[in-house]
Amino acid sequence: MKSEILRAAEILQAGGLVAFPTETVYGLGADASNERAVARLYAVKARPPDHPVIVHVGSAAQAFSWAREVPPAAKQLAERFWPGPLTLILKRSAKAKDFVTGGQDTVGLRVPAHPVPQELLRVFGSGIAAPSANRFGLVSPTTAAHVREDLGDDVDLVLEGGPSEVGIESTIVDLSSGPAALLRPGAISRGNLEDVLKSKVEEKNRSSPRHSGGLERHYSPRTPARLVSTHDLDKEIEKLKQRVAVLAFSRPDERVDYWLRMPRNPGGYARRLYAALRELDTAGCETILVEAPPEAPEWAAVRDRLQRACDA
Ligand code: TXA
Ligand code: MG
Repeated sequence: MKSEILRAAEILQAGGLVAFPTETVYGLGADASNERAVARLYAVKARPPDHPVIVHVGSAAQAFSWAREVPPAAKQLAERFWPGPLTLILKRSAKAKDFVTGGQDTVGLRVPAHPVPQELLRVFGSGIAAPSANRFGLVSPTTAAHVREDLGDDVDLVLEGGPSEVGIESTIVDLSSGPAALLRPGAISRGNLEDVLKSKVEEKNRSSPRHSGGLERHYSPRTPARLVSTHDLDKEIEKLKQRVAVLAFSRPDERVDYWLRMPRNPGGYARRLYAALRELDTAGCETILVEAPPEAPEWAAVRDRLQRACDA
């Protein structure tokens, strides 16, 4: 592994692209200070140029060198949740160029906890720009095999790190102006943030395309997918005359061609979610039906991803 990481750092230094595991999802990394490398990253992802990428760094001190203002709330959240599945949006310093911020005056920063990026960041010694290692709009990868399926030869090296433990993307908190705002829910919940900050955290309207998770349809399988309540699932299965794949909490129904049963706890569900959506997408069915998860706050991040994966 050691020599793989050295090779990865050399590829990054030379302006190449390296996919790497994190605790949330796999990332596609480029040297965050190299304009041409980041341009190639956008081209491979087919990502619109005004969508900013997160800069990954090895420590809070390094993270804050990419920001020109570090409010007390940023220090508190960093202290509690870094390294970990949290991204902070702060006013950028001169280090964060337009090509990583999408021309905005803010920058997204994250210190990942997974040992592979920790070591890579230590050896590389500088910021790595990394969106999720999938093509724009599709389901994020949670294994190295997913990355290879999605990106093939477009990536110079894929570091192996096992299945991602969290399974969905980091919680994003905007601290760049005014009170803390939640831009993307994740494993760190709104309640977790409020406990540390001892104040309310508002959810910001994510319909703005400025952060890509903000696009309504995102994290999507190619097969049309629909969210249905537990109550309606049986009716919908009965009604549909097509081949159907189902993601549900309950036991398989024999009328259904392909059925995946999901854990009843949100952490376990999140961990399996993207691999499950990929599996259902290749099951050769015309429709995917997803049983809606509970309305409780601890399901907020899973609900968010499912709403974006589904058409209705
Ligand atoms: O868990 C994660 O965050 C993963 C792993 C690889 O770290 N990364 C990830 O990156 O999900 P990506 O690019 O797929 O999603 C990052 C989100 C995007 O919606 C992006 O627009 C938003 O963060 N973002 C980045 N910088 C921002 C900024 N300055 N202001 C608002 N949103 C920002
Ligand atoms: Mg993404």
